[in-house]
Amino acid sequence: MKIITVLGARPQFIKAALLSKELRKKNEEILIHTGQHYDKEMSDVFFEEMDIPKPDYNLGIGSDTHAIQTAKIMIALEKLFVSEKPNLVLVYGDTNSTLAAALTASKLKLPLAHVEAGPRMFDKTVPEEINRVITDHISTLLFAPTTISMDNLHKEGLNEGVYRTGDVMLDNFLYFSKIAEKRLNIMENLNLSKNDYILSTVHRARNTDDADNLKNICKAFLELSKEYKIVFPVHPRTVKYLNKYGLYNKLKNANNIMLIEPVSYLEMLILTKNAYKIITDSGGLQKEAYFAKIPCITLDDSTGWPETIQEGQNILVAQKNETINYKYVVDITESFKSKSMHKNTFGDGKSKDKIVGLVNNLL
Ligand code: UD1
Repeated sequence: MKIITVLGARPQFIKAALLSKELRKKNEEILIHTGQHYDKEMSDVFFEEMDIPKPDYNLGIGSDTHAIQTAKIMIALEKLFVSEKPNLVLVYGDTNSTLAAALTASKLKLPLAHVEAGPRMFDKTVPEEINRVITDHISTLLFAPTTISMDNLHKEGLNEGVYRTGDVMLDNFLYFSKIAEKRLNIMENLNLSKNDYILSTVHRARNTDDADNLKNICKAFLELSKEYKIVFPVHPRTVKYLNKYGLYNKLKNANNIMLIEPVSYLEMLILTKNAYKIITDSGGLQKEAYFAKIPCITLDDSTGWPETIQEGQNILVAQKNETINYKYVVDITESFKSKSMHKNTFGDGKSKDKIVGLVNNLL
């Protein structure tokens, strides 16, 4: 069976790392990198560190408006799908690369598998929500990570080809935790010790591109930095907007805020596991905080991962609200540490086996 996997952005490289190896045991996999992410620390570093097979094609699309980026990927993919004639196209998550590959496969009537189908933020202003909903509705095989994701799909009338497989990110978390020790030097390099810092990431468009929201977040970080050390690996999109709104140097000059370059997956695992708390708008990091049992504060008014909130490990904070007392929010998450987690919410760490088993059987 010939399967084309399309990847483009950092979270997709991570999600594909183990699944791709499993898929190749019985299938031929052609890996296409759209080039949506292209900086070394946003792309190459993941392929090297997680031993992801080298892409067979790199489309080199790069950054642009959503329409141009999506359209350019579609044009390039159509040619490759026609010449490679795959039995299945496989996509991950909710990025513009996901949408472009899904639409192209669907127009060519190629079977399409979607890993991480079903999470919903119920907010159509979020670009990722649109990407995910459309991809789900044109997929042949939908691999839902959780029961809530399954239910969301059923409520939208999607029943055929829908399977609850667990979350491949949990597979990764468990597998790579064992080998992350070799990146322990990040703690030493940054002069950090366990529990003595808040780990933070911000990259969602509605937090970065909106001047008021980004200012509110920076104000909160400056306030918190009076009491806590904040380690902040900054996404290139965020650097751009921090500079645009004159905020970068304010954070850089603060005593207790460490603005650092984006880190690798293993480094992020180490930083996550040793953090006191996590403040983020990343869906992936919300889950990793949950896996690591670190209290999480999510900078958004909705999340695709309500499981983490229902189980008392995560709290939403709307960035629009400038009067919010972040110190209070950080304090109340202290109680999250004593919560015991549901055993099987995100699966059992064997999602990749389930997904590949289903792909092999169903095709
Ligand atoms: C994309 C995904 C998002 C995912 C995120 C992970 C979409 C709509 N969003 O957001 O779901 O969580 O990736 O990081 O697909 N840039 C660089 N170097 C790079 C990549 C990007 O400098 O290697 C800068 C560029 O200025 C670019 C901006 O970041 O314009 C945004 O990049 P883009 O690919 O449009 O979306 P992300 O914000 O990365």
